[in-house]
Amino acid sequence: MQPALSPRDRLIVGLDLADADSALAMVARLGDSVSFYKIGMELIYGSGFDVVRRLVDDGKQVFVDLKLHDIPHTVERATAQIAKLGATFLTVHGFVPTMQGALTGAAGSSLRLLAVTVLTSFDEEDVRLAGYRLGLADLVALRAEQAQRLGVSGLVMSAHEAAAMRARLGPAMVLVTPGIRPSSGVIGDQKRVMTPGAAIKAGADHLVVARPILTAADPRAMANSIIDEIAAAL
Ligand code: C5P
Repeated sequence: MQPALSPRDRLIVGLDLADADSALAMVARLGDSVSFYKIGMELIYGSGFDVVRRLVDDGKQVFVDLKLHDIPHTVERATAQIAKLGATFLTVHGFVPTMQGALTGAAGSSLRLLAVTVLTSFDEEDVRLAGYRLGLADLVALRAEQAQRLGVSGLVMSAHEAAAMRARLGPAMVLVTPGIRPSSGVIGDQKRVMTPGAAIKAGADHLVVARPILTAADPRAMANSIIDEIAAAL
């Protein structure tokens, strides 16, 4: 676990909103309570990278969740473009050539890479259908170790895998976990959820939370209560 991070910097709010206006309105409502945002395919493909630039200019940290995967040369050049935006994290799929391309593209910048080992929507049957000879857990472990060996900064995973990954990979690997639900909240379509406190205790460095905050009657109060829960668990 990264010991120096403040509870506030551990919460990453997923801006899963359809357009830049709604995203920036939510950022304004959350104000100083939130320092870190995740922006994904929906918002970027709909509104471009201006939201990323705006947030970076406002002193926020940004996690660009585009899960890159292509030939290494293309991944390298795409990563170099994203690095120019001043984002903090970028996701790439955890294939060795993809991660190598991204590492070359991010070299010399402050952009840090997070690898997606196996999408959490995959089950054993999906892994088998994709032609892998390893089972799901072994494939996740293999890719996590490959990412670490290459020098990728961190991994995105379910909080349910965080404790085992932390034990396996040691304290330096950044572990980022979505599927977080405050004890009071609605689960929605997430199947394997964990509370903020439990995820931190399991060894997660950053928690990604979208709907529990975006749909709350008072998003700022919800963000603050999650940050309090993170602080209490540290
Ligand atoms: O609304 P909710 O808090 O479930 O959103 C979680 C965010 O994390 C979404 O942006 C979702 O796409 C992302 N995510 C996830 N599970 C993963 C990887 C990413 O829920 N395994």
